[in-house]
Amino acid sequence: MSESVHGMWSSRIMFILAAAGSAVGLGNIWRFPYVAGENGGGAFVLTYLVCIFLIGMPIMVAETILGRAGRKSPINTMQDLTARSNAWSGWQVIGWMGVLAGFMILSYYAVIAGWAVAYLFDMASGTFVGADSTFANDAFKSLTGDVWAVVGWHSLFMACTILISARGVGKGLEMTVKYLMPMLFILLLALVLWAALTSGHFLEGMTFLFSIKSEDFSGDAVLVAMGQAFFTLSLGMGAIMAYGAYLPKSASIVGSATTIALLDTVVALLSGMVIFPIVFANGLESSAGPGLMFITLPIAFGQMSGGQLFGTVFFLLVTFAAITSAISLVEPAIAWLVEKLKVSRAAAAVSIGVLAWFWGLGTAFSFNIWDDVMILPEKTFFDTMDYVSNNIILPLGGVLIATFTGWFLNRAIFDEELGDLSGWLKTVLMLLIRFVAPLGVLVVFVMSFI
Ligand code: PFF
Repeated sequence: MSESVHGMWSSRIMFILAAAGSAVGLGNIWRFPYVAGENGGGAFVLTYLVCIFLIGMPIMVAETILGRAGRKSPINTMQDLTARSNAWSGWQVIGWMGVLAGFMILSYYAVIAGWAVAYLFDMASGTFVGADSTFANDAFKSLTGDVWAVVGWHSLFMACTILISARGVGKGLEMTVKYLMPMLFILLLALVLWAALTSGHFLEGMTFLFSIKSEDFSGDAVLVAMGQAFFTLSLGMGAIMAYGAYLPKSASIVGSATTIALLDTVVALLSGMVIFPIVFANGLESSAGPGLMFITLPIAFGQMSGGQLFGTVFFLLVTFAAITSAISLVEPAIAWLVEKLKVSRAAAAVSIGVLAWFWGLGTAFSFNIWDDVMILPEKTFFDTMDYVSNNIILPLGGVLIATFTGWFLNRAIFDEELGDLSGWLKTVLMLLIRFVAPLGVLVVFVMSFI
């Protein structure tokens, strides 16, 4: 099939922007620094980078191949491709797991993004002018402790996501991403410069992020690093497969995937380079958890001249980065509902959004009325959603995607999708998809359970 019924990206660049929009999000700016802080800094960052390049990139290529070859929702793409490859139709489970993971992730993603929206308004109104670490800590606690406020912002973010998804990933969104992503990049660079020149603790921050101590490696930290690699690249749940379905035939899949992964990694590392110097300059805890970005950045903005403006723009960009990711979380489910029930995109988007909103209340409450309710040992509702989706379902989805693509997908389809890729590159890629990526994930799973 040369076109998808859901629409098509107008060019390869638009696919790269949309997929980079999906990849770059809260995972880079909010989650990466705090999980790195909780899991040993440099050792974690190294493991994460290895996972991005040896496991993540091959799986991104595999997902895009499947998506473009099938041109449907991940569930139906898998059905189509198993039929064309004479493979077992049970591989469709990849699509189903993806819908489940997307739903779980969106439910909490919207809550955290809601915090960012709240901060956007606080920044704009000058709440954080002159803020120090006590003020920033208190502000974070009072926002997350306020059930009504959190649910209100959560609802607003979810409504925006549904609205955009309902209207389709057309020109409007493409254009938004086109201008906002470069702006986010420039602002991050400016912040890195600020942290380097004025925090007085830039080296300490860099040392924390990049110096590797062997005692910091642990089975669980390795699992979290791998989970982060999947989460940040939007892999293992069909989001990239769904976006790949709208990719024009002429575009190079390997080139696009490499660009997306590099952009995503740079944004994560830059965020760490902004946040950790501020952590050390203000005597904050590097292992502060989900509040890390929300406590550190307001201090920086509170103290720099023009911080009110920069802070407002920054949280605006974080919000947009989150929206361009959130819409990709629901795309697999929306596309499937449209294909299966022949309902409109709008109806599909609203149904999924309402369900995810409801499930998200569990996360909204995890920081206040349910902060002592543990679903898994020592894990709140939020921690549980995050742990199960990122550290288990996404990597498992990734193993299945790589295994299917490497071993069971009709070879002619594989070759056709990779087009003019030179012979040796194709061999290396095949080795990565067949062996390195699936075995890598399995090794990490085993290590974390020992
Ligand atoms: N990659 C996004 C981020 O880093 O914020 C989160 C995400 C989006 C994960 C889409 C998974 C996904 F399918």
